[in-house]
This record gives sequence, structure tokens and C-alpha cells, in this order.
Amino acid sequence: MFETLSLTAPDAIISLIKLAAADTNPDKIDLGVGIYQNEMGATPVMTSVKKAEKLWAAEETSKKYIGIHGNPQFNQLFAELMFGKNSAAMTSGRLAMAQSAGGSGALRLGGELIKLANSKARIWVSTPTWANHQPLLGSTGLEIKPYPYYNKETQDIEFDAMCTTLRADAVAGDVVLLHGCCHNPTGADLNKEQWGVVAEILPEKNLVPFVDLAYAGLGDGLEEDAYGLRLLADKCPELILAASCSKNFGLYRERTGLVCALAKTPKDAELCHGQIGLTMRKMISMPPDHGAALVAKILNTPELRLEWMTELEDMRQRMSGLRTTLADALSVQGAQQMARALAAQKGMFSLLPISPEQVLKLRSEHSVYLLNSGRINIAGARDETIDRLSNCILAVL
Ligand code: LMR
Repeated sequence: MFETLSLTAPDAIISLIKLAAADTNPDKIDLGVGIYQNEMGATPVMTSVKKAEKLWAAEETSKKYIGIHGNPQFNQLFAELMFGKNSAAMTSGRLAMAQSAGGSGALRLGGELIKLANSKARIWVSTPTWANHQPLLGSTGLEIKPYPYYNKETQDIEFDAMCTTLRADAVAGDVVLLHGCCHNPTGADLNKEQWGVVAEILPEKNLVPFVDLAYAGLGDGLEEDAYGLRLLADKCPELILAASCSKNFGLYRERTGLVCALAKTPKDAELCHGQIGLTMRKMISMPPDHGAALVAKILNTPELRLEWMTELEDMRQRMSGLRTTLADALSVQGAQQMARALAAQKGMFSLLPISPEQVLKLRSEHSVYLLNSGRINIAGARDETIDRLSNCILAVL
């Protein structure tokens, strides 16, 4: 039967990991996949995670199953971190939670929940968006619709066009996927005023927000990055959250995430809880525990929590510093507009106004790796490589 299969290339991000790894040029600059790298170009295990692992190894008494919703302590503590401990979302009994296999697992579980609740719902996603949003959510069978978000040439958010599309074309019951912070791939986030407008349109039109929060803590800080989510949770009767611990805890390979459904009533939340659990059972039976146990340990141990927050803030500041340094270098060399946009954007990513041909040139002539779309991961740069990077970008423009 397998001869009936066809070969399909993985998405651009996965393909680029291989290409960059195969390049033996010691001066290569890899701005591809979204992982944090330190000044040495390494992605070490965070110290707080290492300490939690030690404690957990000594304390763990059994590897028996936990359950289809995963680790309840992790669910509670991580949800509190996202929504705020004393928020209405956490205290009203309207929140259904389950641990997921990474943020991607949360997106998929959220998508399946939507399908069960309203199979006619369309999911609106930003143009552009993360390469895996459409495959992950489209695999549920739900229709995916694009809304304008970012103009690559002017490097601006197309906020009016976004609102016009949602107002004119989305219908009651549709779902709107929003990047909570550090928009992937553009780095261009909604400001508070724009979040306010979105938080008016959605309930007015009976649209359900689906917030993807994969980079909390890496934009403006943990509290600041949750602003949009928390506002929507206050203003909209229903909401779905897909949150990830891959980047902010550096638990990329542990696959640790959280899916939440905020329902109109505690009774509806129970229904969501039940259906998310059943969906998990059908897909993977139960989520993996190790990463969730570590996050729970960190969040529940004051010294570790503080240490983790300090490490997270260091990562955030390093990336923000690299942005400024690259922006300054580009600005000196005459690319002022690109520099301005880059400096104002948040998190790991920015979408540079360069063509796929120019990206290929950067790769073949300079060993500089970024996605064909022009997306860079700023964490792949280093203080000592910024000048070369800036020169190379300008050389291909
Ligand atoms: C990225 O966008 O590069 C990351 O989210 C990693 C991935 O899985 O695509």
C-alpha cells in the first residue's frame, strides 16, 4: 500500500534546519528556526530547569499514568501565569484546562474542540502567519480564512484592513487566531489601542478569539505579553488559549504546552474539559509529563521561580539588544526604514523586506540562513557577527 504515497517536502522552517546544519562555513549565521541562542551560539538547558530536574529526579516516586488532561498542578500554575492568578478567568469556574504536547498540541486540541462545537466555524488567520498554523488547524477539516495583518514592503501592521475584513467577512461563530505577543513571522505586535479595538469587534460580531501565546516573556515581559489575552478574556464570553513552554522555559524537545477553553458558564467549561480529554485520548491518549513536572516545580518553588524569571528576562534583553544593534548598523548604512521597523518589533522574529531570490543569495554567497519569506530569528545573531550580517543584507538588496 505504501507505494500509493507521494513525497511531500516539510515546511520551510524544517527544511532550513537541515540546510543550515549541513553548511560547514565557520562564519555561517543561522537565523532560521525559532530557538533562542546565547552569545556562544548555543541553546543550553536553563539553570532553573536543570535544578528542577535534579529535585524532580530525587522526588519522583512513580511513572504511572497521570491522566488524559495531564499534570493538574502544571495546568493550574501555568494558566495562572498566563491569565493572572486572581483574574476572573481563573476564579469563575469557567476555564477548562489540559496539558498538551507543546503549543502545537494545544493548537490542534483547540481546533478539534472548535470542530466538535461548531463544524461550520471558519478559523481566521493572519497573513502572514506561522508556517504550521494552516497545516495544524486545517487538519481538523475546518476552513481556514486569511485576514490581512502585515505589509512586508512598508513593514507596517495593516490594522484597518484587518478590522475591515473581520467586520465584513467573518460571521458569527467564526474563530479568530491571534498571536498573543511576538507575532511569528513578523515580530509586529498589536499595541494596546489596537487590542482594544479587536476586543470590541470580536464580542460585537460573536467571534471567538483563539490566542496563540508561544513566546510569553520574550516580547516586553511576562505581564506585558499577556495584555491582549487578558483583555480578550475580560471582554469576550468565550476564548481559547494555546500556550507553549518551548521558548520561555527552553523546553523545546519536551513538548510542553497548555490548552484552555474559557466558556460562558462553569457548566459549559465542564463540557469543554470532557471533550478536550476525550480528544486527547483519541489522538495520543495522554500528554508527556516530564516537561510539565519541571515547569510545575519551578513555578511552585519561589527561589526557582525567581531564577527562571531572571533567566527569561536575560534572554529577552539579549534579543532586544541585538535588535537595536542590527538596527543601528543598518541605519548607518542607509537602510533607515528597515532599521526603524526592526527596532520596534518584538521577540525573536522580524520579516525583512527582501525577496526569495535575495534570501537565496544570502545563503549561497554569504552562508546567512533565513526563511525564503525574509523571516529572521534575531537570536541567531551575535554581537560580533552583527556588522557582517548588516553588510550582507545590504549587499543583496
Ligand atoms: C519557528 O517558528 O521557527 C518555531 O516555532 C519552530 C517551529 O516548530 O516551527
